[in-house]
Amino acid sequence: MKYSLKKGTTITRMLCTGILFFLKLAVAGSLCAQVVTVPLQTAANALVLQTNEFKNLSIIYFGKKLHDVQEYGLAPQVYRQTSDYSGMLNSAYTSAGSRNLMEPAITVTHADGNNSLDLQYINHTIKQENENVTLYTFTLRDPVYDFSVDLFYKVYYRQDVIEQWSVIRHQEKGNVLLHKYASANLYLKSDAFWLRQYHGDWAREMKPEEARVTHGIKTLDSKLGTRANLFQPSVFMISMHQPATENEGTVLFGALEYSGNFRTDIELDYQNNLRIVSGINNYASTYTLKKGEEFVTPGFLYTLSHQGKGYASRQLQDWARQYKILDGNGDRLTLLNNWEATYFDFNEEKLKALLKDTRKLGVDLFLLDDGWFGQKYPRNSDHTALGDWQENKTKLPNGISALVKEAAGNQVKFGIWIEPEMVSPKSELYEKHPTWVVKQPARPEYYFRNQLVLDLSNSEVQDFVVGAVDQLFTSNPSLAYIKWDCNSVIYNAHSLTLKNQSHFYIEYVRGLYNVLKRIRSKYPTVPMMLCSGGGGRVDYAALQYFTEFWPSDNTDPLERIFMQWEYSYFFPAIATGSHVTDWGKQPIKFKVDVAMMGKLGFDIVVSHLAEKELQFCQQAIRDYEQWKKVIWQGDQYRLANPAEGDVASVAYISRDKSAGIVFSYLVSNRYAAGSALPIRLNGLKSDSRYRLREINLYPGTSSPIDSTKTYSGDFLMTVGFNPEVNAGRSSVVLTVEEVK
Ligand code: GLA
Repeated sequence: MKYSLKKGTTITRMLCTGILFFLKLAVAGSLCAQVVTVPLQTAANALVLQTNEFKNLSIIYFGKKLHDVQEYGLAPQVYRQTSDYSGMLNSAYTSAGSRNLMEPAITVTHADGNNSLDLQYINHTIKQENENVTLYTFTLRDPVYDFSVDLFYKVYYRQDVIEQWSVIRHQEKGNVLLHKYASANLYLKSDAFWLRQYHGDWAREMKPEEARVTHGIKTLDSKLGTRANLFQPSVFMISMHQPATENEGTVLFGALEYSGNFRTDIELDYQNNLRIVSGINNYASTYTLKKGEEFVTPGFLYTLSHQGKGYASRQLQDWARQYKILDGNGDRLTLLNNWEATYFDFNEEKLKALLKDTRKLGVDLFLLDDGWFGQKYPRNSDHTALGDWQENKTKLPNGISALVKEAAGNQVKFGIWIEPEMVSPKSELYEKHPTWVVKQPARPEYYFRNQLVLDLSNSEVQDFVVGAVDQLFTSNPSLAYIKWDCNSVIYNAHSLTLKNQSHFYIEYVRGLYNVLKRIRSKYPTVPMMLCSGGGGRVDYAALQYFTEFWPSDNTDPLERIFMQWEYSYFFPAIATGSHVTDWGKQPIKFKVDVAMMGKLGFDIVVSHLAEKELQFCQQAIRDYEQWKKVIWQGDQYRLANPAEGDVASVAYISRDKSAGIVFSYLVSNRYAAGSALPIRLNGLKSDSRYRLREINLYPGTSSPIDSTKTYSGDFLMTVGFNPEVNAGRSSVVLTVEEVK
């Protein structure tokens, strides 16, 4: 009889089959152990955990949900792979030092110096948090040592997302050393796997590489401490059977929710199964766990799609807006930033003019960037004053409060840049508190962007950082926005106050989250941008405290088309800061059209715009106001890949499918490059009729798109539309509206 099991059901039976194989191994206790099977189900998938002969918790299935839950138990029987030997290849959390032969999730040295660990299933609980979210907790314990691990799986049913983490504790007679302490351990079966990973540097974020996974271990990691994603973010994709495309194929997206050193080991084992072990990087970070102390790992999140990368990204974006990003369903402020307009060279008068420009342009907020602080060592270049968060009175004789007032007079809001984790060697802060700095006491200092990192593992430093931000708000209660920067990596990792230096990297990140938590408890809603010299720190642990992130200092719109394409697989448009700047030689229309695909901002000298350019920007901002909800809260469909043809095209469709906006760009300079073929839309209702209308038309130009015609969704999704992109029309924005 077929039946489907409700969320949260457990299957229990006695297991005495398959024992012969294991008889080769010496097994303590009865081989006829009670088998516990727990299917963790989402709308599309099931991750099925089961105890084995050794009472270890294993993954027996991870894939498309089956109609009959009883059949998950049959899955292992249809594989004819080579011997497992250890009975641990598919462990849900691989412990080292007993039978394990593969990359472990956890390695320890017990209080008595012994290095072995065997984690056996004790029990589990299932807590339905609401109609969509269920938390599963599995308690595992070593039969020899009083050492246990709780595995947490938070299952978001509709979004097909699982967040996984572990809590490690013991009651041994002394300290236990944790050498490795992963958040999650996954196990996938397929005939072949492809990894899509990302690398980069300043202004070169999110460069993709995709390759078939070969045997052995591929490690994605960071050892930078801060600005941890500078060379590599933790986000990745694994395609199964064949490389997934936008709309086809099985693909897993994964990411660690952590803002410090991370490490993800992707191991193709000798049986051709894929083992993924992800967590905090244990590099230089052996953790001494006291009796009774709990070590909580960060979350590892994943979603599995059977409809290609596009579906996975829509699921993840939806999850991020609902559950992670601060105010993910809320509003955002459009802004004018002065960084590229002035760099460090400004004064009150110049800023007052920019405040007038902010209003003239029609955006919501003026964002004052770097260079406003430092009294003894004024911040006129990036060599001084980080840490001295008092106004530079030469530049701003009447302080920030005069600017905030001026902003209000112009009916715009005011925001400010701060880089509170950092200190310049030339600063009063460093002079006063030389022990607050991360450095090796006996070695020369070494700088990244001429600066050092403050030691956030020290609670006094945490208080200072909270105080610096608080001071800005208390002296300017109407301050409406913060850009929080973090430009430096950590060299000479060492705390002058921490007892155990192996805890430094971990304590730094804990310190950072403490600070952010404290700031958020006092200022829960003020929008904050997460910046790290660009996209050096973009992850879902940090984004719980931020409303948006700065993807890159590279704002050349052509570069942004490629870069935001990749970011968008993991992060929604509402959180993706996207500004019009002087980078790139494209016309202003192209720049604005690209910036409208994210959270729109400007970083230009408005007075340098020609009259028509200004007029164009003003109209575009008004149109953005009208369409921003669809861009921010709608479903994103990538229609034409810039890496594969002359034209890039991206659509955002409202959740009720009644309206959409489509951005198309020319990404090639070759002869006659353009949209020769129609582009197929996606996400519409096939039997509804829609009208296409071109917006963001440059003054004095007209559109070849006939907005009086209507098309069925069926036609637009099967045959397509032609945005008429060519060298004369290098960017085109079309709205799609249902005609009732
Ligand atoms: C970093 C940021 C920039 C700008 C500068 C200021 O590079 O990414 O946007 O704020 O710092 O120094």
